[in-house]
Amino acid sequence: MDNVVVLTGAGISAESGLRTFRDSDGLWEGYNIADVATPEAWDWNPALVQDFYNLRRKSVLEAKPNAAHYALAKLEKKYKVTIITQNIDDLHERAGSTEVVHLHGIITRSQSSKDPNLTYPIDGWELKMGELCELGSQLRAHVVWFGEAVPMIEKAAEICSKADIFMLIGSSLAVYPAAGLINLVAKDVPKYIVDPKIPAVYGLGPMIKIEEKATVGVPGLVESLLKSN
Ligand code: APR
Repeated sequence: MDNVVVLTGAGISAESGLRTFRDSDGLWEGYNIADVATPEAWDWNPALVQDFYNLRRKSVLEAKPNAAHYALAKLEKKYKVTIITQNIDDLHERAGSTEVVHLHGIITRSQSSKDPNLTYPIDGWELKMGELCELGSQLRAHVVWFGEAVPMIEKAAEICSKADIFMLIGSSLAVYPAAGLINLVAKDVPKYIVDPKIPAVYGLGPMIKIEEKATVGVPGLVESLLKSN
């Protein structure tokens, strides 16, 4: 079975109603990143950060996977598919994908503010101040903030280096180290990009650019891969 590796970003969940970060109606517009998504913000005003992620969690729980998430799950009929997602939603899992690496964490889990390896499922959408981990420290959202290490990056790098087919869906490639993963895919491996605004990537070998929204481009691409020999 060929290895298909898919790197997804906020664009794949846009048509599920979850806004992207850097489009003109992006999520960060009303918020300064430094106020909600950094360790310093948590030190300065943990209740504000908690509220921000509680609202994000509520939106994620209300959202449903779209045709692009479902198409990637269907690809497992013929390929070994590993999804590396920058998204903190669980829409790939809910669509039925079985191998999903969350580079930036997942909002449906909480994390100890003392030990990032201690994570727990969250019941419902709200994580309250005063809810503690087993070490007695406040629970926060299990997401990677700007300025924090990305613990899954080495695993993701290894997965990319073994790809036979690579896809990039709905990411501006603006944030490292995730954006560097495409450079680790072997040069002769076909790389498909699905995005209405294709990000600038050069010199990486065969590149197939599908300038479409995810719900249009991904099901079409999946059907053609399922039909190919
Ligand atoms: N279908 C596919 N792609 C889309 C769609 C759509 N319907 N709508 C928008 N896009 C594309 C945009 O053109 C853009 O290239 O999705 C991309 C979204 O880019 P960003 O908002 O920068 O999101 P992403 O690349 O996932 O951001 C990376 O940055 O803020 C951090 O940690 C956060 O994981 C996030 C990381």
